[in-house]
Amino acid sequence: MAEVVIVGSRQEAGVLVADEIARLVRARPDAVLGLATGSTPLSVYEALRSRLADVDVSRVRGFALDEYVGLDPAHPESYRSVIAREVVEPLGLDPERVQVPDGRTAGIETAGEAYERAIVAAGGVDLQILGIGTDGHIGFNEPGSSFASLTRVKTLTPETRADNARFFDGIDEVPRHCITQGLGTILRARHLVLLAFGEAKAPAIAGAVEGPVTAMLPGSAVQLHPHVTVVLDEAAASRLQRADYYRDAWANKPAWQGL
Ligand code: GLP
Repeated sequence: MAEVVIVGSRQEAGVLVADEIARLVRARPDAVLGLATGSTPLSVYEALRSRLADVDVSRVRGFALDEYVGLDPAHPESYRSVIAREVVEPLGLDPERVQVPDGRTAGIETAGEAYERAIVAAGGVDLQILGIGTDGHIGFNEPGSSFASLTRVKTLTPETRADNARFFDGIDEVPRHCITQGLGTILRARHLVLLAFGEAKAPAIAGAVEGPVTAMLPGSAVQLHPHVTVVLDEAAASRLQRADYYRDAWANKPAWQGL
């Protein structure tokens, strides 16, 4: 099962995950990081700045989970722009080694396959950062997504478009389509780190971690993976039935076990 870690704040979560990423990059300078957008991972990227400051990151590779289709790549809210602004530039990564799915409409039919090939050619993702949508999506795999799915075009749900409207000038500006790594792609990563903060994420987290494995809640795919860390604040953990067990397991974790 996933290891569930309940922390006091999103800053504390950021430090915990950033420490693990820094450890990984020190051990493997050509580590492949799976990068997520949205507000959730920002505390991880923030904490990584100081932790990677004295580490050689010139060979680190990165793959973003998803991108909007048809949005100008130069738009400030394209995931290409977000990853450049929040991750590549502040951490000093090589932009040539960090990829985002190509959401431009010209060539979109083959963009998914090309992205899959690039991930395989890089040797696969070592550590995949994940957030979760209020409807349970990971990446942009909306409810109903196949557990075997690979990178492809999806249609966003009205709920996701409404959630993401805050990044745009209203919901009408939010693209209707996206290109996202599939659940099958995500499950190939060697370590999944799912973060969630706030009351609004509590139902999705309860379903993902303790509910039935179902395509209706794509985050439940994490139950199929052998190495998952779920990092939550108290509010996001508030609907978990076994929270006391997770706290006890974390408090008494043997020192030799990593994340
Ligand atoms: C977005 C992204 C996801 C993200 C999720 C939650 O639409 N495609 O990768 O995890 O929705 O976003 P936030 O972290 O802002 O709550």
